[in-house]
Amino acid sequence: MKGKLPSKFPPGPEPGALDGVFSPFRRDPLTFLTNAAREYGDIVGLRFLHYRTYLISHPDYIEDVLVNHPRKFVKGRVLQANKRLFGNGLLTSEGDFWLRQRRLAQPAFHRTRIGSYGETMVRYTEQMLEHWSHGQEVDAHQEMMQLTLNIVGKTLFDADVAGDAREIGKTITMLLDFSSDFRRLIFTPKWLPTPRNIQTSLAIRRLNKIVFRMIAERRASGRDAGDLLSMLLAARDEDGSRMDDKQLRDETLTLFLAGYETTANLLAWTWWLLATHPEVERKLHAELDGLLAGRAPAMDDLPRLPYAGHVLTESLRLYPPAWGMARLAIEDHEIAGYPVPAGTGVAIAQWVVQRDPRWFEAPDEFRPERWEGDLQKRLPRFAYFPFGGGPRQCIGNMFALMEATLVLATVAQHFRLRMMPNQQIVPLASITLRPKNGVAMRLESRRGAKTNLNTAVAAINRI
Ligand code: HEM
Repeated sequence: MKGKLPSKFPPGPEPGALDGVFSPFRRDPLTFLTNAAREYGDIVGLRFLHYRTYLISHPDYIEDVLVNHPRKFVKGRVLQANKRLFGNGLLTSEGDFWLRQRRLAQPAFHRTRIGSYGETMVRYTEQMLEHWSHGQEVDAHQEMMQLTLNIVGKTLFDADVAGDAREIGKTITMLLDFSSDFRRLIFTPKWLPTPRNIQTSLAIRRLNKIVFRMIAERRASGRDAGDLLSMLLAARDEDGSRMDDKQLRDETLTLFLAGYETTANLLAWTWWLLATHPEVERKLHAELDGLLAGRAPAMDDLPRLPYAGHVLTESLRLYPPAWGMARLAIEDHEIAGYPVPAGTGVAIAQWVVQRDPRWFEAPDEFRPERWEGDLQKRLPRFAYFPFGGGPRQCIGNMFALMEATLVLATVAQHFRLRMMPNQQIVPLASITLRPKNGVAMRLESRRGAKTNLNTAVAAINRI
């Protein structure tokens, strides 16, 4: 087998005869990659089936690929195999086409524009709280999924997806699960009527129906809602042509997919971390109560909530919703003296790098205080990169951070989320990193009957 590999292949775990390192990777990707990096170093040679992949874990190597040579690489095989779902949207498109679409979408994520989304984020969170009461049991992950889906729908597409939210949510989660199944993607032809392929086709059809309906309604109304959908609808090429419905569908669905589960996961992990670190929770409450004293937070408050920011930064370090990224070399390159021939995969794992003891003291501990000093400045650029980097950096990073802070501040002022007993929170490294069985929590009102009374009064006022 060694003879088949390039003359200089980085050291790595011995591949199995049949599928290389695929089986141990699939069993537990987080542990497998962590062990590989800790044992073999900053560049590890891995063979998945017959595909050669290098796991790179030094910040300088990561910067070299993402920032210095992005044109030599395209997105990895798993995303490419999922084009049926993502189509040619921002996440999966490449080259000049991607650049054009990115330029079209960018203004919708501009600081001044997302500022206007803040109010919606808080309003939707308050609406969720109207359904919450002291002593109630909830799955914090599900609650956050529904909330962030409603927020993306309203802010980017001015669509009230609340009615469709459960349907979209269920369907997307199922599709994301299927789409992270590398073995199935590679081995099962899409046309084969396996139960999974049939389920996938039906689910994509359901999603398409909802998204095409949204697009048709907007086209029919001719209304400029000033949101992303209006911008995309109005955008013209140099030759005057517009995006067709299929391209609009790809961009819309991509933003739903990329934008809602990631933020929901960040919040779910954060509720769990707060519940298991009471001293952090106390400090957070003190900051929120001191500044807001019960009123709803607004965009302008964010710079005055530094501890809330550190809590989220630390949560993103330990439980990065995008736990890893993949690239495929389309030109020959070299990393750390090893040849990277075109066709080689490159794997980069936030989960591994952001827990590296070379950059973080007590790396597995949840310590928001570590961000209070100048750590961010001292770190190499790619020691902490929950939103990726280079030209393909997350377009929604500011949107996500603002949303997460406003949701955290709104909820934590009114409720403490307590863990239900006897559960083990297990990270599931699917396309995103989520708590495998959710997070069962009991709501504890921080203001006793007052909160419920306030909520009731707010509800009456809205009638
Ligand atoms: C905590 C929340 C989020 C995390 C951790 C996250 C993480 C990431 C990462 C790591 C990438 C780069 C992937 C790569 O280079 O292979 C990415 C790309 C992307 N994200 Fe996010 N994201 C989040 C929220 C959002 C939101 C809220 C939106 C939109 C509403 C969004 C839309 C996108 C899009 C469209 C891309 C592709 C950008 C491009 O290639 O031009 N993300 N995200």
